[in-house]
Amino acid sequence: MKSFGLAIWGDDNFVIKKDTININHASKPSLLEITNDIREKGYKGPLLLRFPHLIKKQIVTLFTAFENAKNEFDYKGNFQAVFPLKVNQFPNFVHALMDVSKGYNYGLEAGSKAELIIAMTKTPVGAPITVNGFKDKEMISLCFIAAKMGHNITVTIEGLGELETIIQVNKEFNDNIQMPIAPKIGVRIRLHSSGIGIWAKSGGYSSKFGLTSTELLEAYEMLKSNDLLSHLWMVHFHIGSQMGDIAPLKKALREAGNIYAELKKRGADALGAINIGGGLAVEYSQHPHHQERNYSIKEFANDVIFLMQEIAKSKNVQEPDIFTESGRYIAASHSVLVAPVLELFSQEYNEKGLRLKEVNPPLIAELYDLYNNMKRSHAREYLHDTLDHMESLLTLFDLGYIDLEDRSNTEILVNLIIKKAIALLNDEDVDELKKLQDRIQEKYLVNFSAFQSLPDFQTDQSREYLGYYL
Ligand SMILES: Cc1ncc(COP(=O)(O)O)c(C=O)c1O
Repeated sequence: MKSFGLAIWGDDNFVIKKDTININHASKPSLLEITNDIREKGYKGPLLLRFPHLIKKQIVTLFTAFENAKNEFDYKGNFQAVFPLKVNQFPNFVHALMDVSKGYNYGLEAGSKAELIIAMTKTPVGAPITVNGFKDKEMISLCFIAAKMGHNITVTIEGLGELETIIQVNKEFNDNIQMPIAPKIGVRIRLHSSGIGIWAKSGGYSSKFGLTSTELLEAYEMLKSNDLLSHLWMVHFHIGSQMGDIAPLKKALREAGNIYAELKKRGADALGAINIGGGLAVEYSQHPHHQERNYSIKEFANDVIFLMQEIAKSKNVQEPDIFTESGRYIAASHSVLVAPVLELFSQEYNEKGLRLKEVNPPLIAELYDLYNNMKRSHAREYLHDTLDHMESLLTLFDLGYIDLEDRSNTEILVNLIIKKAIALLNDEDVDELKKLQDRIQEKYLVNFSAFQSLPDFQTDQSREYLGYYL
């Protein structure tokens, strides 16, 4: 029975039972039953099935890992998390997310005005909202309005121009007001350490986001001279998405931790949080030797807490609250795309399809022999002979020396020989075999749109999959 590599990437979310794939939940419903039920109601698909309990599972796992790390190291800061809306803004997802995250003070991250409006309407008052990306005056004004509504909102400065606008909006908004209100302020730092994973360029020194050390010092002075230093609360960075290796994160944490401590020692008394952005990776691989993530969630949480504590201790400053903005990790596994197959381009040949004659061209007789006598010990040699004969036979057809039936016999025999060789050599990790496997694979014409239907995607390779990451 084929397992689709579930043991590697499935995270116990699926169970294969009696040849059906079942979602691992109390009643373990099978995807086939669910799909049939929906189709009976007239919906043909593509269908995107969402399983909110799997969103909850990720949230619980993330919070538990940090809770355990905090306990282990006796860490004094809090752990908080927000979901970056750029990863999924669909109402069906956001509503489910806010529903299953109750009790965790879980909030939302916004990177655009539209996302900010979603965050302002969907985040419970008190839960954190973080605002990243470039912001114009309108967007900054919206942040002030959110603060006035009572939201726990942090607006991250990505450049000094933005800070000037914040100062301007602050003056206009709080002009002649006895109890001035302003959002909390974060500073996105431009890391010296390089980014990693997908969108690596959004981290690292050449990134277009974030303040250099010189700009940070300037921002500090601007905040101070405009009475906004008491709002400076967060240091933020994001090193990239689908972070496969933990090492660059550790470097970034040291850098960010030291910047936090230096700003605090300089007089940023209200500073109390480090936002480590997103990037927590999802395992997509089906192959034991090519895994995408070299760390566990436990290691991730332990590293963050340990390194922050170490820096806070050595610089004698308060241990910061830790924020994460993991998106992919929270959302990727909760949905399954079921798409209707419109056609199967089958190359499922078998011996019965052969139209052998009493006297066949010698190369076809040879192929037939190779097929019948192939053993593991000489399978690769026979395979190479087969491919060679195939080329010759196709040339013979082009030159008019063999007929269509001979060409069909060639096709079938080559297909059968390749399959037999792959079966005999199945424990050998040979590139040549993988390429041949592609050649004999069945092809399906499936009705879905990569842009509309896939909720998350893997850029580098198309894989045999259940539509799960997505
Ligand atoms: C600032 C910021 N935070 C969080 C994320 C989410 O990243 P991920 O989905 O990899 O966790 C992104 C993604 O680009 C981002 O730019």
